[in-house]
Amino acid sequence: MSLAHLAPDYVRAIAPYQPGRPIADVARELGMSEADIIKLASNENPLGASPKAIAAAAAALNSTALYPEGAHELKAAISAKHGLPAEQIVLGNGSNDILELVARTFLHPGASAVFSQYSFAVYPLATQAVGARGIVVPAKDYGNDLDAMLKAIDASTKVVFIANPNNPTGTFVPGPQLHDFIARVPKNVLVVLDEAYSEYLSDADAYNTTFWLTEFPNLIISHTLSKAYGLAGLRIGFGLGSAELMGLINRLRQPFNVNHLAMVAATAALADDDFIIESRRVNNEGMRWLEAAFNTRDIGFIPSHANFITFKMPRAAEVFQHLLKQGVIVRPVAGYGMPEYLRVTIGTAAQNERFLTALDKARADLKV
Ligand SMILES: Cc1ncc(COP(=O)(O)O)c(C=O)c1O
Repeated sequence: MSLAHLAPDYVRAIAPYQPGRPIADVARELGMSEADIIKLASNENPLGASPKAIAAAAAALNSTALYPEGAHELKAAISAKHGLPAEQIVLGNGSNDILELVARTFLHPGASAVFSQYSFAVYPLATQAVGARGIVVPAKDYGNDLDAMLKAIDASTKVVFIANPNNPTGTFVPGPQLHDFIARVPKNVLVVLDEAYSEYLSDADAYNTTFWLTEFPNLIISHTLSKAYGLAGLRIGFGLGSAELMGLINRLRQPFNVNHLAMVAATAALADDDFIIESRRVNNEGMRWLEAAFNTRDIGFIPSHANFITFKMPRAAEVFQHLLKQGVIVRPVAGYGMPEYLRVTIGTAAQNERFLTALDKARADLKV
């Protein structure tokens, strides 16, 4: 007898999140050595993490018998960077945790969340998981259509999710436009601004949201250390917002949601600006190189402000499999409603070259 009916309808209807294929899985499946496989599927930092962060985590291994400590130090490091007191910071087991906590704290059956077509998969997932309704707004040029999102807000809307830059498309809304949008969102609707890729913005595009939190009590900003900071495997992110909103979220947060290694590594990582500068440089060079390579080959792509690029590819699912067999893992985005596209993370120069060689071979073999 199936017991599936014990779960609410809205839980049974959830389509599970599809992560990038792990290297070990692909190695097992194809009988390849892990060393021969490169993963450009999950927007991880190809340079790894700051050596200072790794050293801090290694030193912390001796304290695994104790429940996690280090929130005070990490919040102090975040405070120093963002100019906010500790009560305006919530730590998360990845920023995914923050997004889910927002949904669990503020959404419920009968309420709705607004987000764009082609936006991060966790927004619909977290919304559906609590029985709320997702209002998906058609994208404009693969990015957030802010005017349409404003119009889509209705009396049931409690949260608007917006990533800037956006994943999986890499599109970007300039700071002044975003500020104007938040100012027009009704004051009783929360805006969750997901800045997972903000470290990759050029100096010209970068904008400072710290003051926005004073101006907009309905704003929550989420950050991750999984991308530019290279700590995806440790799971650490944080949310910023008013003390009142963060206090509510804290009521639902597990007491020890973030582990000790993650907290000490993140504290050290946040102090290593040179690592971020170098990561941005390598990403920018790789991005320009790949754009040029796509242009030479007449491969269409969506101009990206993040650390990945989504490009147009006929028979994308077959090309993905072909690349996989060559030991190059990229990300299909058919689940996002983009079956004719693939997303590739910008790697090191050597990884980018390997990806391009494999792509050329796949296109030649498949005649696409
Ligand atoms: C836009 C966006 N937000 C949030 C996340 C979640 O990252 P994490 O939970 O590793 O912090 C991701 C990861 O891919 C992302 O692309």
